[in-house]
Amino acid sequence: MLYITRRETFNAAHRLYREDYDDQTNLEIFGKCSNPNWHGHNYILYVTVAGEVNPETGFILNLKTLSQIIQDTIIAKIDHKNINLEVDFMKGKMASTEILTIVIWEQLEDEIKKLGARLFSVKLYETENNFVEYKGEKTNTTI
Ligand code: NI
Repeated sequence: MLYITRRETFNAAHRLYREDYDDQTNLEIFGKCSNPNWHGHNYILYVTVAGEVNPETGFILNLKTLSQIIQDTIIAKIDHKNINLEVDFMKGKMASTEILTIVIWEQLEDEIKKLGARLFSVKLYETENNFVEYKGEKTNTTI
């Protein structure tokens, strides 16, 4: 079994907050990401796929095809958008890196299965120091 990773980037705005908290409480819990007037991040997304090497091509899969799937399924919908307001797959969800990572996994899993490969991990960097990784394991997170 081998693992191959495609890196993609997007930038997007968001706000971390709860409507049932006041601005002060949101600031205490979510920090600068609770700014009521939004702010943006340059996200870096790593999608890792597991598979066997096809002896005819020498590839696990065609990276161009994987890139196109990520573009169509994720990037086209989120790049230069407001995650809280404009991204269909994030509607009604907390715009945290954790939730976004799980939702990106859910969006990609079946598409990658159709290529005869298996989605192994989704890693999403919100800043160069902070990232979340999800490998599809059962989670108690309700999103
Ligand atoms: Ni933020």
